Amino acid sequence: MAIAVDNWDELAPWWRREATTDLVYREDIEPMLERLTPKDPGTVVELGCGEGQWLRWLSTMGVQTFGCDWSLQLLTHAASSAPVVCAELPGLSWLQDGSVDNALSVFVLDLIADVGEFFTETIRVVRAGGSLIVVINHPGFTAPGSGPLVDVDGEVLWRWGSYLEDGSSLQPAGDRSVVFHHRSIAKLLTAAATAGWALQAVEERALGAAAIERDPGYVGQEGIPRFFGARWVK
Ligand SMILES: C[S@@+](CC[C@H](N)C(=O)[O-])C[C@H]1O[C@@H](n2cnc3c(N)ncnc32)[C@H](O)[C@@H]1O
Repeated sequence: MAIAVDNWDELAPWWRREATTDLVYREDIEPMLERLTPKDPGTVVELGCGEGQWLRWLSTMGVQTFGCDWSLQLLTHAASSAPVVCAELPGLSWLQDGSVDNALSVFVLDLIADVGEFFTETIRVVRAGGSLIVVINHPGFTAPGSGPLVDVDGEVLWRWGSYLEDGSSLQPAGDRSVVFHHRSIAKLLTAAATAGWALQAVEERALGAAAIERDPGYVGQEGIPRFFGARWVK
């Protein structure tokens, strides 16, 4: 397994390609975000904005947005779409209490070890009545030891691995690896509730039909959860 990176600067060229060419973001993730994002949201801070695909998406809808990430390489690109801050999550000490209408985070929470601090910091900086929107890889997918299994009839099943335990695993990212932090949906929702977030909407989605058609390796996984999204209100 390739070496795990500490910061996504090393992954920046790979991630820019992924974010701009992998159709899954347009076909599967954008519709999830459309459903989860409140109408007329006001200001949205994207936590872990990467090269800025969701800053661009929000800006084209006229939403006032800004982003943060710890990769300067990626922020160089994101900065052409919206103001950006270089900062390490989950701390948000650079934002005042109640200073933003909404926080958004896409494929980042499963890269962060301290999920409790993520929820306490986001609820601190979002104003009363504002929202937190999160999309991540489904916890059934990030569980160490999880993966597809084909039974004797050819049906594709999903092995849960150590789903119920907190854990981590190395996942390939370009020619490197990143650490995925796994916790069950129960742990995630409890951490959010403990911080004071009130759950408003949850989505669990499989890979879309178009993505499965493009990659025969996914055939049979049409009913297997792959993405998880939620919206909370303060
Ligand atoms: C999978 S990319 C997602 C980027 C963007 N949200 C998107 O969906 O296109 C993960 C991003 O999280 C950032 N990231 C990971 N851990 C971070 C941390 N501890 N603090 C700040 N950014 C982090 C990485 O630099 C990278 O840009």
